[in-house]
Amino acid sequence: MQVAVLPSQEQIANVGARRFIGILGRNPQAVIGLATGSSPLGIYQALIRAYRAGEVSFRQAQAFCLDEYVGLPADHPEAYQNFIRREFTDQVDFDPQAVHAPAGDSSDPVAAAREYDAQIGAAGPVALQILGIGSDGHIGFNEPGGALTSRTHLGFLTEQTRSDNARFFAGDINQVPVACLTQGLGTIMEAEELLLVATGAGKAQAVRELVEGPVSARWPATVIQAHPRAVILLDEEAASLLSDKDHYRNAWDGFVKYECPDYDWS
Ligand code: GLP
Repeated sequence: MQVAVLPSQEQIANVGARRFIGILGRNPQAVIGLATGSSPLGIYQALIRAYRAGEVSFRQAQAFCLDEYVGLPADHPEAYQNFIRREFTDQVDFDPQAVHAPAGDSSDPVAAAREYDAQIGAAGPVALQILGIGSDGHIGFNEPGGALTSRTHLGFLTEQTRSDNARFFAGDINQVPVACLTQGLGTIMEAEELLLVATGAGKAQAVRELVEGPVSARWPATVIQAHPRAVILLDEEAASLLSDKDHYRNAWDGFVKYECPDYDWS
C-alpha cells in the first residue's frame, strides 16, 4: 500500500479528487465506489468544484455505495443513499438511476445483500473504491470478527460504531440502527484500486493497525494490506502512531513521481 501523510485537508481532498478525475478522463463509463461518513466529504466537494469547472463529468459513470443502515425509512436524511445523493451525486451530473445502494428498507435484508453483491459483480469491476475507516478498524460496516473474504451481507454494529455515529442522530445512540447491509471485505477487495481517507487523532490506532499491524479479523481494514493498489491518505494526527513515517514519505514521493502522476496535485 502507498501511505501519504499530507499537511492539510485541502491536499487530501485534492489528491483524492484528482484520482477520480484521472480515471473518469480515461474511462467516462467507469464504475466507482462511494463511501459515506465525514472522511470523504472533502473529496466530494473537490469533485463538485471540478465538475462545475468543466474538468470532469459523471454522466456515463455508475456508482455503488459501500453500505446502508437497516431499518431507517427510505426518506430518512441519514440513510446513506440520501446522504450520498445530497452530499455528492445530486450536485454533479450523475444519472440518479446509476447511483446504487443496498436496500436497507427491504423486508428481506439477507436477499437484498445477495442481490446487491450480484449487481456489483455484473456492473463491475469497481475502478476506484473510496473508503473511510471506523475507530474500531471497520471499513464499510465490516465490524471486527467478520470473515476477511465476506461478500455483501447483513451485519450488526458495535457499540463503538453506534456511539461514533450518534453525532448524526442528534447525539442519541438509541436512534442509531443496530443492523446494516455492507459490501463484504471480499467484495471491497475486488475493486481495482482502493483509496482510504483517515483524519484526526480518533483514527490513529485504527490507522496504526491498518498500516503496521498484522492482518486480522479484529481490525478488518488490515485486509487492505493484501490489495495490490491501495492508497491511504492521512493527516498528521491520524498518522501519529505510525513508526515508519519517514519511509512512507519517501515511498510516496517516488510513487507520485514515477508511477502515478495523477496524484501530483501541484
Ligand atoms: C461509518 C461508515 C463507514 C465510515 C465510517 C467512518 O461507520 N459505515 O463507511 O468509513 O463511518 O466515518 P467518518 O468518516 O465519519 O469518521
